[in-house]
Amino acid sequence: MRQAGRSLPEYRALREKHSMLEIARTPELATEVSLQPVRRLGVDAAIVFADITLPLPGMGVPFELTEGVGPVIEHPVRTEADVAALRVLRPEEALPYVGETIRALRSNVPAGVDVIGFAAAPFTLASYMVEGRGSRDFARVKAMMLGAPDLWHRMMATVSASTIAYLRMQAEAGADALQLFDSWVGALGPRDYAEFVQPHTRAVFAALRGTAPLIHFGTGTATLLPLMRADGADVVSVDWRIGLGDAWSLLGPDLAIQGNLDPAALFGPWEAVRVRADEILADAAGRPGHIFNLGHGVLPGTSPDQLARLVAHVHEWRPRS
Ligand code: CP3
Repeated sequence: MRQAGRSLPEYRALREKHSMLEIARTPELATEVSLQPVRRLGVDAAIVFADITLPLPGMGVPFELTEGVGPVIEHPVRTEADVAALRVLRPEEALPYVGETIRALRSNVPAGVDVIGFAAAPFTLASYMVEGRGSRDFARVKAMMLGAPDLWHRMMATVSASTIAYLRMQAEAGADALQLFDSWVGALGPRDYAEFVQPHTRAVFAALRGTAPLIHFGTGTATLLPLMRADGADVVSVDWRIGLGDAWSLLGPDLAIQGNLDPAALFGPWEAVRVRADEILADAAGRPGHIFNLGHGVLPGTSPDQLARLVAHVHEWRPRS
């Protein structure tokens, strides 16, 4: 997640010359940036360089990426007329460059390195559309859910159909796994998740079943895991707010888990990072299907050396017999 952008000097050097969106929309540049963390850190997968907001203009919602703020939408989606004006994304027309980048990546990654395609989960994309930017309390989103549930569900249906089309294009281009980012879903309690979000997320996973392994990423989801368990992903990504063992008891033995080191822990001394990484690895030992990862994206200012050391440590780790 945002791994290249936050920490690598070779990414920052490219950003001196191009905006983030320019890089994402230029397959040669996007391929290069996607490969940077593989080269420098030795990670096992490359995530296509894109952003969850890229499909928005193709749905009729222009946006800008503002430095230090993130996505900003000048005309948020709030009324009947706004929702009626939304279009289902046609990814081959709106963002063919993402497919091209994935194809280029597939033929350029070292043997054994996988390519991950991704999109926002319906709730997280819809929350940007309605709030107009990142939010702490999601007051407008919740006002729409509770005050105009029909409108909310219609909007979510258009978002979901768009996400399905977008991820299908990425699978066809050769993505080895598809990750759905529900970065902000932890703002909801289980009741609202079940009523306003889960039917749509389930529809996305059901439509994509069989295309590639499916990863459901969320943060702050400790109380939602018993519901997310049945959403149809193969892998659920959890953050550091829940222990891996506890997450597994809530998700059951059939799902793989991704996670869950606190990205801020990387600012501590290496010894502390190592102890935490070992705890995660020991928790996962003997279970089928663990993807070691951070619980959320790499924070700005993270030391690339600390990251590379962590990757090497995870690769070398063996359970104690
Ligand atoms: O690791 C990578 O470089 C892969 C590419 C990637 C980006 N965004 C590029 C990016 C990925 C996987 C994302 C996903 C994304 N984008 C999510 C879901 C994952 C998560 O971290 O929760 C979300 C919520 C977004 C929306 C978004 N885009 C935010 C909140 C920001 C940060 C704003 C800031 O500067 O603090 C962005 C901008 C962004 N997208 C950057 C990058 C590399 C950083 C800014 C830049 O380089 O200009």
